[in-house]
Amino acid sequence: MRHILEELQRRREEAAAGGGAARIEAQHKRGKLTARERIALLLDEGSFEEYGMFVEHRCTDFGMAGKKIPGDGVVTGWGTVNGRVVYVFAKDFTVFGGSLSETHAAKICKIQDMAVKNRAPIIGIFDAGGARIQEGVAALGGYGEVFRRNVEASGVIPQISLIMGPCAGGDVYSPAMTDFIFMVRDSSYMFVTGPDVVKTVTNEEVTAEELGGAAVHCARSSVADGAYDNDLEALLQMRRLINLLPASNIAEIPQVPSFDDPQRAEAALDTLVPSNPNQPYDMMELVEKTVDEADFFEIQKDFAKNVITGFGRMEGATVGFVANQPMVLAGVLDSDASRKAARFVRFCDAFNIPIITFVDVPGFLPGTAQEYGGLIKHGAKLLFAYSEATVPLITVITRKAYGGAYDVMASKHIGADVNYAWPTAEIAVMGAKGAVEILYRRELDDAEKTARRIAEYEKRFANPFVAAERGYIDDVIMPRNTRKRLIGALRMLRAKKLETPWKKHGNIPL
Ligand code: HXC
Repeated sequence: MRHILEELQRRREEAAAGGGAARIEAQHKRGKLTARERIALLLDEGSFEEYGMFVEHRCTDFGMAGKKIPGDGVVTGWGTVNGRVVYVFAKDFTVFGGSLSETHAAKICKIQDMAVKNRAPIIGIFDAGGARIQEGVAALGGYGEVFRRNVEASGVIPQISLIMGPCAGGDVYSPAMTDFIFMVRDSSYMFVTGPDVVKTVTNEEVTAEELGGAAVHCARSSVADGAYDNDLEALLQMRRLINLLPASNIAEIPQVPSFDDPQRAEAALDTLVPSNPNQPYDMMELVEKTVDEADFFEIQKDFAKNVITGFGRMEGATVGFVANQPMVLAGVLDSDASRKAARFVRFCDAFNIPIITFVDVPGFLPGTAQEYGGLIKHGAKLLFAYSEATVPLITVITRKAYGGAYDVMASKHIGADVNYAWPTAEIAVMGAKGAVEILYRRELDDAEKTARRIAEYEKRFANPFVAAERGYIDDVIMPRNTRKRLIGALRMLRAKKLETPWKKHGNIPL
C-alpha cells in the first residue's frame, strides 16, 4: 500500500517538474513564470484542482516514443477567483515549447466542455508554438477541435486569453476567437508565423517584437485588448476582470458591496465642457466621476483612443461604458473606433451587461483613407451592434451629436431606453459652419451675413431642446447629477426583457 502511495507521489512530482529544471530556469531567466506558477497566482490560494496530469502523447514519429512528459505541455483544471468557479488551462513552454499534440488538445477540449456545461468562464494562458510539428495532421485536427469549441462557447461563457510568451499558429488563432486577449510587454509575441518563416517567405527581416509584440497588437492591429509589464501584474489584473464578468449568458451580473453614494453629485462636471465648442476635454473624467469609486477597467486603451470602452460598476453591479473621447481626433468615429466599440457592445449584450454611452461626436471621419479602408462597413458594425442590443441602453449626450454618428451612438431611434442630454448638447446634422457653407453657399463672400447665418443655426440647433421637444431626449440633466440619474435609470431598467423575431443569426457587416 505504502508503495502505491509513494508511486503516486513520484508521478505527481514528475508531472510538476514539466520540461525539467534547466528549462524552468530558462523560463524564469526570460522573466516568465511557469504554467503552474501562473495558475497559482491567478486562482484563489489552494483552489486549483488539476485534471489530466498524467496524460501523455501517443506520437511515435521523429523519436517521440521515447520522449514523454506527463501532462504533455498543458496544465488544465478549475479553481476559483474570489470564490467564483473558473476553468483554466496553461500552456507549459518547458514541454515541447507548449506545442499542441492530439492528447494535449483533448485535455483543453475537456476543460472547454466542462466550462460550457457548468457555465463558468474559461481562461487560457498561452506560451506556445502552435501545432506540434512531429504530430502533423493529428495536431491540426486537435486544434480544429479546440477552435470549434471556442466558437460554441462564444456568447455562452466569457473566454479570456492571456498571452505570456512567444505564440504562433493555433496558439494565436484560438485566442483570436475568445472575448479578450491580454499580453505581457517584452516577453509575449503573437504571430501566425514567426520571424524565421517571414524571412524565408517574404525576405522581410523583422524581430519578434516588431512582428507581434504587445505594442503592435495593442496599438496597431487591435488583436490584443491590453498589456501589462510582467506576469504577476497580468494575472492580478485578470482576477480584476473576472470579478467584473458574469459567469455566463444566463448568470446574474456580479454584484459587490458598494460604498459609493448613489446620490453623489459632482459639481466639477458642470464645467467639464468648455465654452469653446472646439476645445477638447477629457471624457475619462466623466467616466471616472460616474462609476463606483472611480474604478474603471479599460478595454483596448491604446487602440482607437478616440473612443473609450471598458467596465465599471454602478451600485456594485457591472456596467459597460462606451464614450467618445474629444481629446483624440475630436472624438470622431473612424473605422478603428467603430470596430472597437462595436465589439465591446456585442460582448456586453451577449452577457447581459447594461451599456452606458457618453456622446460627444462630431461625426464620421471624412476622407479617402477612411473610405478606401471601408468606413461604411466598419461604421455599420457599430450601428448594427447597438441596434441589435437588447440590454439596458442609457445614453448621455454631453456636447456634439452630429450627423449619422448621432444615430449610431445609442440614439433613441435605434433602441436606447433612456436618453439624456446635458444643457451643453448640440444635436444636428452637422456643425454650424459646415451647415451654413452648404445652405448659404452664395452668401459666403459676405462675412457679416455668414456670421449671422452661423449664429442663427447655432441658436436653433446648438442645444438639446429641439430633440427634447420631439421626445428623442428624455430629459436634459444637470451634469453634476449624471451618476444619480444613471443609477435611477439602471434601477428602472433592471427587469428589461426584449424579445426579437426568431432568426438563426444576423449578418453583421464583418
Ligand atoms: C514542436 C516545438 C514547436 C512546435 C517550438 N517547439 N514550437 N516543438 N512543435 N510547433 C520546441 C522547440 O523545438 C524547442 O524544443 C522548444 O519548443 C522551444 O522552442 P525555441 O524555438 O527554442 O524557442 P523560441 O526561440 O523562444 O521560439 C519560440 C517560437 C518558435 C517562436 C514559438 O519555437 C517557433 O516559431 N515555433 C514554430 C511555430 C510554428 O510555426 N508552429 C506551427 C504553427 S501551425 P527544444 O527541445 O529545443 O527545447 C499551427 C496550425 C494551427 O499551429 C492552425 C491555425 C489556423
